[in-house]
Formats: sequence, structure tokens, C-alpha cells
Amino acid sequence: MKSSLSDALFLLFVITTQSICSTTTGAASTGENVVKDATGKKVLNNVPYHIGPVISANGGRIKLTDAMNNKKICPFNVVQDPSDVNLGGQFSFTLIAKEKYLLTSRILGIDSGSPKSPCNKSTFWTVPDAEAKPPANLITTGDYFDEAATCFQIVEYPKPTNPKVHSYMLQHCPSFCGAGPRTCFNASIYLDKGVRRLASSGGTPFEFVFYKV
Ligand SMILES: *[C@@H]1O[C@H](CO)[C@@H](O)[C@H](O)[C@H]1NC(C)=O
Ligand SMILES: *[C@@H]1O[C@H](CO)[C@@H](O)[C@H](O)[C@H]1NC(C)=O
Repeated sequence: MKSSLSDALFLLFVITTQSICSTTTGAASTGENVVKDATGKKVLNNVPYHIGPVISANGGRIKLTDAMNNKKICPFNVVQDPSDVNLGGQFSFTLIAKEKYLLTSRILGIDSGSPKSPCNKSTFWTVPDAEAKPPANLITTGDYFDEAATCFQIVEYPKPTNPKVHSYMLQHCPSFCGAGPRTCFNASIYLDKGVRRLASSGGTPFEFVFYKV
């Protein structure tokens, strides 16, 4: 009994020191931090979350749509729900490195989970051509994990609307995962025939928070 307790304490000591050390070195070298959800809890890596605006003045949460202009599309588009009462889509932010929690300033892919429709394209968020004009720089699904087109990172929102809530912006950084323009593109809202779509077209970055599913 005594030995298993001291073993457990030793293990706890090792884990604690390791996480303190890795947090310290990580923060010092790259400014990466653990992402927090709307309630202040750490966001898990590769686990589904809803994301949405800090205040729902201009619409609700982010979701996928399988139709545009009354026509079915495949793969899907990433859009902001016009209504602020819906939960939104479930998105897994998956770091390319193996980590327990999601970190800012680290490359990741965003998976929308298996589609409940005949469309069998990949569900990873992708930007067909970040440097082109809309619609080529709007975020859709398709392509695969750890490719230039599906390469993103999360950054703390520079001037949060509500300083008490952890809010973030998304950047598309093609060259961090493969060949592509050596810059990061802020994800912002682009109005496409009345539909609020996520785009890498620049402008004011979309400020969002994470909600546990
Ligand atoms: C997707 O569906 C098309 C047409 O139904 C089929 O030809 C293709 O093999 C499917 N691909 C996968 C990955 O299931
Ligand atoms: C991205 O957004 C940040 C914060 O608003 C801004 O400072 C920066 O200039 C933007 N970058 C580009 C390339 O638009």
C-alpha cells in the first residue's frame, strides 16, 4: 500500500514537472498556449467542438452546408449559421504533432467528421487557392490531413471583444504543411450571395470561441 502510494506520488511529480517544463519552454520559444473553451476549460486535441462568435450579433455558429443557391454541393462549404439558436457543426481540430490539448501557433487540420449524406468526399477543411479571388479562397471541405491546402493554425485573438472569454482566430498557412505561399491568411467572413462563408480572403479575422459538444 505504502509503496504504491509513493509510486503514484512520484509519477505525479514526474508528470507535473514535465508539463511545467514543456509549457515553459514552449511558451518561451513560440508563444504557444493551450486553447481554452468558452468556460475556460482546456480544449482537447482531436475531439469534436462547436465554434461560434463571441457575441451572436451577426449570426450563429459555424457549420457545414450541403447546398448553395438551392443546389446540392459536394464537397461542402463552411458557413456561419444565420440563426444563433443552433448548436452548429462538430469540428475536430487535430494537431499534426501528438498532443493531449490543442495549442495555439501549431499546425493542424480541421475535420468535420463523417458526412451524413451521399457525398463521400473528405471532410477536412480546405482552401482550394488561398491567393485567388473568391470562390477559390473560400473554405470548403475535401483534401486530406497534413497537406498545404488543409493546413491551419489557431491564434489568440489580438483584441478580444470580451477579455474574460478566450477567443481565437484561424489562419490558413499553406507553406507550413507543404508547398504554397509563405504567409498565413486570416480566416474571415465573406458574404457570398447572402451566405456568410469562411474565407481566407483577408479582412477582419473571424473571432470565435470553442464550445464543448
Ligand atoms: C465516392 O462515390 C463515388 C460515386 O458514388 C465512387 O465512385 C467512389 O468510389 C466513392 N469514393 C469513396 C472514397 O468511397
Ligand atoms: C490578420 O489579423 C490580424 C489581427 O486583426 C492583423 O493584425 C493582421 O494584419 C492580419 N493579417 C493579414 C495578412 O491581413
